[in-house]
Amino acid sequence: YSLLTTNFIGKKIYHYNHLTSTNDQLKKLADEGKGEGTVVVAEQQTAGKGRLGRSWFSPPGAGIWCSVLLRPTVSPAHAPKLTLLGAVAVAEGIEKYTGLQPGIKWPNDLLVEGKKVCGLLTEMRAEVDSINYVTLGFGINIKLVDFPEEVKGKAITLEGVLGKKLNRVGLLACILNAFEKNYLLFLSKGFSPIRGKWEELNVTLGKMVTVTSHSGTVSGEAVALGDGGGLVVRTDGDELKEFLSGEVTLSR
Ligand code: BTN
Repeated sequence: YSLLTTNFIGKKIYHYNHLTSTNDQLKKLADEGKGEGTVVVAEQQTAGKGRLGRSWFSPPGAGIWCSVLLRPTVSPAHAPKLTLLGAVAVAEGIEKYTGLQPGIKWPNDLLVEGKKVCGLLTEMRAEVDSINYVTLGFGINIKLVDFPEEVKGKAITLEGVLGKKLNRVGLLACILNAFEKNYLLFLSKGFSPIRGKWEELNVTLGKMVTVTSHSGTVSGEAVALGDGGGLVVRTDGDELKEFLSGEVTLSR
């Protein structure tokens, strides 16, 4: 990790051949008291987790399956912002290392050529009014693989797009550098600079979308990122609705 220029993120990296999930392993390390910035990486995840209870396809050597430990002294209500921060950081790292500019689909999918190249999953342990820790996991598809049927056509790999081999270590270092830079910005200046970058990179606002959440499916125009990181949609019935979680399909 020679290109790593951080002060704390990735100063300790635990690397495994296989894990069930890097997030789960990092939670164990966090419970043992490991410090902020601790990173877990695995070549393969046998039970990689996606958002909304889905699984994340993580075959050996085919991507970067990684989790970062944060211990921000903020209330749990700020946690969704950290995921948006993660999306911005990974997008910046990918851009810097490969020249490709991923777009962010709310809340934190990274798309290249309209297909998903990276997903993020934030988990947290918190008290009522304070976060104990956050494990911010991201999975980046790198090598060409046969995707499972359910994601075929929706997923893409960086090497597939670039048409050449990518050095995963170099890319990860770049991402961790961007992570620390954005996290420090968040701690010193709050969410607004991160929000600005998220808005610039996003490919959801201004589009017609369909949002599926636990309260059902709604279609309309994605009009704004809410203060807490939710997606504000002007429904076809002209109502404003904010979603804090859910799945977005871009319709046109
Ligand atoms: C999603 O798009 O649904 C989120 C996918 C998150 C996948 C990453 S891979 C590393 C980390 N460990 C996990 O089990 N999941 C995240």
